[in-house]
Amino acid sequence: MQGLNFYCQAAVCTALLTSLAPGLCAQDSTYAKKLAPYVASPQRVVDRMLEMANLKPGETVYDLGCGDGRILITAVQRYKAKAVGVEIADKLVAEANRNLARAAVGDMARILHGDLMEVDLSPADVVTIYLMTQANEKLRPKLEKSLKPGARVVSLDYSVPGWKPLKVDKSEESRGHLIYLYEIPANRK
Ligand SMILES: C[S@@+](CC[C@H](N)C(=O)[O-])C[C@H]1O[C@@H](n2cnc3c(N)ncnc32)[C@H](O)[C@@H]1O
Repeated sequence: MQGLNFYCQAAVCTALLTSLAPGLCAQDSTYAKKLAPYVASPQRVVDRMLEMANLKPGETVYDLGCGDGRILITAVQRYKAKAVGVEIADKLVAEANRNLARAAVGDMARILHGDLMEVDLSPADVVTIYLMTQANEKLRPKLEKSLKPGARVVSLDYSVPGWKPLKVDKSEESRGHLIYLYEIPANRK
């Protein structure tokens, strides 16, 4: 996307995600579970998401729908955090595993191959998502039930309906993308 300014790039990513969604590969047996097509977050946006999450060394980040694993690698290399990616698409799981091996992150990061709706999220300190509004709506009860108080959720471009963000970032660093930051309240029942 060279030649486009950052704001155009963000608009292109959002349009791509929205336009790919209805065609989510009907011949793929996992398609019924697919909550969003694959569009990678730009690296600068990944950096900004993890910065907003205030990810600390030793904490655990879950990237739900981890694509090529770039968020996991950044979390380990820049923040000394542990990282778990969940990905449903076979090819992306293979690509992410290759990328983790190349980045030599060892056992600090791993990929779970399957449906993010079926994964235990209770160990997560930070959850990152780049899904879509409807998917976030579906995911919300699970996040509310399983995340610990103080856990942060960072969502790229799409809000979590019904939640009030602590912050919505559209700074120069987020390259025209919207980044929503949420925190599970300490007094959660
Ligand atoms: C927009 S991409 C985001 C990729 C990556 N998180 C990033 O920011 O670069 C969404 C990803 O979610 C994956 N996905 C969609 N539905 C899923 C599901 N039910 N379980 C696991 N992964 C899923 C897609 O295959 C895709 O890789």
